[in-house]
Amino acid sequence: MIKISGLVKQITDGHSNKNILDELDFQLGANQSVAISGDSGSGKSTLLNILAALDNADKGVIEVAGLTLNSMNEAQADQYRKKHLGIVFQQFNLIDCLSVWDNITFPARLNGLPIGKYHTELLEQLGLGSHKNKLPVNLSGGEQQRVAIARALSHKPKLVLADEPTGNLDDNNSQLVSELLFGLCKQLGLTLVVVTHSPKVAAFADKRLLLQQGRLHNHPNQISNFVPA
Ligand SMILES: Nc1ncnc2c1ncn2[C@@H]1O[C@H](COP(=O)(O)OP(=O)(O)O)[C@@H](O)[C@H]1O
Ligand SMILES: [Mg+2]
Repeated sequence: MIKISGLVKQITDGHSNKNILDELDFQLGANQSVAISGDSGSGKSTLLNILAALDNADKGVIEVAGLTLNSMNEAQADQYRKKHLGIVFQQFNLIDCLSVWDNITFPARLNGLPIGKYHTELLEQLGLGSHKNKLPVNLSGGEQQRVAIARALSHKPKLVLADEPTGNLDDNNSQLVSELLFGLCKQLGLTLVVVTHSPKVAAFADKRLLLQQGRLHNHPNQISNFVPA
């Protein structure tokens, strides 16, 4: 589903250039999930933006769902995001003037897909049934993020990206939101990339990686049955 090879992203730091992503390689299969952690400023959001075709790599090949992102023009990138991508942000980013239902069904309508049973089930599975006609401002943070998850899944995208999805939530909501996000993506057969600082959130993922010095490494916690001599 995702194939990244030799990805370089350079930033200008004062007068010198720095490779924030440095010959990074990464692969993830369909219906797999990965949690990426790493220090602030290590390039996690930059990597997600490149996967979302919102930012360009300086070098390397980035393929998602058989499409080569780095050779796309703006129109193709728009189409890719509209059709194949669901995004969950730390700040929820719901449309304030639309009801929960209209927020959730928005990406499906944008793609000309029918609205129906699938969306009602999403609403129910995310525990939002009684909030259907409310505006986002009348919901708690945890509820807003559950709306954002339903919206990200509304058009059955191939890839779901989430940047610190629980960064603004308390422990209980963080747990619930993670359970729903990882659970629904697995159930629907979607590929999921989550950036998170939280080991509890990362525990839901199939794979845990650490972004360090421009590359992705196996997270030390991954080697759970390693016993030093
Ligand atoms: N458009 C940009 N131009 C220059 N520097 C940037 C740009 N975007 C991000 N950076 C820098 O790149 C580094 C990585 O940023 P980011 O991907 O947001 O890190 P993270 O999400 O891991 O905290 C930071 O040092 C940030 O200041
Ligand atoms: Mg970030």
